[in-house]
Amino acid sequence: MKTLYVKTYGCQMNAYDSAKMADLLAPLGYATTDAPEGADMVILNTCHIREKAVEKVYSELGRLRGMKARKAKNGGRMVLAVAGCVGQAEGAEIVAREPAVDLVVGPQSYHRLPEMIARTARAGGHALETDFPALEKFDSLPAPANTTISAFLTVQEGCDKFCTFCVVPYTRGSEQSRPAEAILREARQLADKGAREVVLLGQNVNAYDSPSTDNKNWSLAKLCDALADIGGIDRIRYTTSHPRDMGDDLIAAHGDNPKLMPYLHLPVQSGSDTVLDAMNRQHKADDYRRLIDRVRAVRPDIALASDFIVGFPGEGDADFEATLQLVRDIGYATAFSFKYSKRPGTPASTMRKQVAEEVKTARLDALQKLLLSQQYAFDDSQIGKTLPVLFEKTARETGQIMGRTPYQQPVHVIASPALIGTIADVRIQRRTANSLHGTLA
Ligand code: SAH
Ligand code: SF4
Ligand code: F3S
Repeated sequence: MKTLYVKTYGCQMNAYDSAKMADLLAPLGYATTDAPEGADMVILNTCHIREKAVEKVYSELGRLRGMKARKAKNGGRMVLAVAGCVGQAEGAEIVAREPAVDLVVGPQSYHRLPEMIARTARAGGHALETDFPALEKFDSLPAPANTTISAFLTVQEGCDKFCTFCVVPYTRGSEQSRPAEAILREARQLADKGAREVVLLGQNVNAYDSPSTDNKNWSLAKLCDALADIGGIDRIRYTTSHPRDMGDDLIAAHGDNPKLMPYLHLPVQSGSDTVLDAMNRQHKADDYRRLIDRVRAVRPDIALASDFIVGFPGEGDADFEATLQLVRDIGYATAFSFKYSKRPGTPASTMRKQVAEEVKTARLDALQKLLLSQQYAFDDSQIGKTLPVLFEKTARETGQIMGRTPYQQPVHVIASPALIGTIADVRIQRRTANSLHGTLA
């Protein structure tokens, strides 16, 4: 038996890929372990989205170099692999900067890992695969060996939007939707293993558009309808979406498909039309407001989430104020916000009028304060209500189990672990910083 340690950075798509890499290596005798020291194989599944994410990878590689040397001293071998978006973006540079790395593989070519491991074991040296055969990859992946109660399911790869700040179109390639049949098959396999919720993943998942055996192209709404018919799947979520691809049928599905959860992550990035234009988002702030109105018309209680970037090149005080105003107008349940980070090769990285670091810091503070107050207000509005909670796992505190409301809020309840994998009504009693707490109703 050999041991495999996988560390995941970045988005949910990477989390899905990490699980798939473990499934792929299991037949080769690798069992996953939760610490890298002494492991026979270590994979860093990396993220290139912001500079800090990349720095973390290189500092982790430095630590792993030491572990690899210790293992070699004892006559063992640690295979060190870099997967994910840094692997794709920096390829051969990684091996030049950190020669301890044996394998580099991009997010669309990791199905070739078994063959690459065999190749380097035979011939030594480094192996590098950074092609984009996205659909070939999915065809080569094994069925899920196990699942969590809430399971990720990648339905689409890549992105064609080319927002001027973003590396994803370069690291994950062009947008491709998986065939609906393959997705439904995987969802059935997940349900058989005990999943009760599927989270459909893609960088522009609401643009999902794929031919099916009925010779019609399926939209995300149609895919969600078909998923709702699978026995055992009680909840469906999807992430992440682009405001330009929010189709009428998907909006309608939020009113019609009872398994589609009332939570929508629809990143807007900025509330300023000037900045949105410079970002190449191709919509105005008011288009977004109208879109949200339409979603709320069919599902008034929907929890809204977004991503924001502050300090995009050229963002002035008035632009930032427009972002704050948009946030006040919409009212978010939760949101992620970041300082603009220059990414090599993207158009925004060479734009003039880059914003000073201290301005970015001040804006991020102000935005996060506002977003946090909205999050607390949304969470507090659930206190006193009874909500169906899907229990996912035991909580850190003994005697408690953790689940999620339809709005994706974590809830902690004192209850038997036998309830994990079931949906039960919970009376929400109070909120702490990151969670709701309640009792079984
Ligand atoms: N496909 C999604 C987002 C993918 S990346 C969308 O279109 O919205 C996740 C988030 O990281 C983005 O929404 C954005 O807010 C942030 N991000 C991406 N590139 C960034 C950069 N260069 N600097 C700071 N934040 C960035
Ligand atoms: Fe990046 Fe999302 Fe824009 Fe695609 S749509 S380029 S993933 S921010
Ligand atoms: Fe990061 Fe790649 Fe995801 S850059 S956010 S891991 S698509």
